[in-house]
Amino acid sequence: MRKKILFGVCIILFVGAIVWYALQKPKEENKDELKIGVSLYIKDDAFVNSIVSQMQTRAVIYEQRTGKKVALNISCADGSQREQNKQIEKYISLQYDVICVNLVDRTNAAPLIDQVHEANIPLIFFNREPVKEDIFRQEDVYYIGTDAKETGIQQGQAVADLYEKYTKLMDKNQDGVLQYVILEGEMGHQDTALRCEYVLQTLQQEGILLEKLDADTADWLYSPAEAITEEWAKEFGDDIELVLSNNDEMALGAVSALKAQNISAAIFGIDATPAGREAVRNGEMWATVDCDAEQQGKILLDMVTALATDKITEKEGIKESRYVRVPVTTYVSENIK
Ligand code: BGC
Repeated sequence: MRKKILFGVCIILFVGAIVWYALQKPKEENKDELKIGVSLYIKDDAFVNSIVSQMQTRAVIYEQRTGKKVALNISCADGSQREQNKQIEKYISLQYDVICVNLVDRTNAAPLIDQVHEANIPLIFFNREPVKEDIFRQEDVYYIGTDAKETGIQQGQAVADLYEKYTKLMDKNQDGVLQYVILEGEMGHQDTALRCEYVLQTLQQEGILLEKLDADTADWLYSPAEAITEEWAKEFGDDIELVLSNNDEMALGAVSALKAQNISAAIFGIDATPAGREAVRNGEMWATVDCDAEQQGKILLDMVTALATDKITEKEGIKESRYVRVPVTTYVSENIK
């Protein structure tokens, strides 16, 4: 009987040791498939979708290079934080390797962060930035995006440079003041507040006189921006000289509305989406700020695979700094008429 018990204990210890050893092995060695969960705040955001499609492209390249499969599970929260939390709970219960979140409500990330941390899964936020205290409340929480202030400064700089070059064309009534409207992104989004603040501050610092005709939020979207600009066109007509838009999609909505009324105005966006670039190339938009969705998607995928295979330590300083800010540049039209 004693011998049997001893034998049983030995077996248990042996199996336990094997399990322990397997858990100690670098993740990379015992994984042929990396399971990555991505949750987006809505389905139809042009800029966010460019980032995600770049992630998908890079995942295929990674698979070809390493022979490991990257299973990217992408879900959309339809603007509901509750829905997003559910999606993340699902990723946790299925033991995903890394979770990437494009937050619905960027002011309320703490519960989600704690939950993912408890499950011991690395968490990367992108594009919609949680507050700093939330990013640092747990280990293995990161943010990838641009510097919102810098995007506003560069938009302002582009307006100032082009005003110098095309003063007569821009200041249609020649009163030495630029009459402007501003299309704002979602309220509460870090990019909305900072882009609005710094584009205007930069123009003031450049000594450009401005008169605000109106401002309204179109939630980053083309159709609401088109409708708002239609109203502005009726109200202000040719008095509109400058349209400052917090992103390209809304700038394109303004392009369409003003074109329909035969009003010419200098329209500026931010993002450099494919459609935005095209509009800059053909002179419908005067400039945009390139937020490099391609680079953001690439860095995201690199981070994901590094975290999933325990190679994150190779990413210089990121473990401590937690933030990756992708540089932005200005993309100006050479076709202004
Ligand atoms: C982009 C917008 C996008 C928003 C979504 C911003 O950084 O400029 O185009 O709609 O992020 O969060």
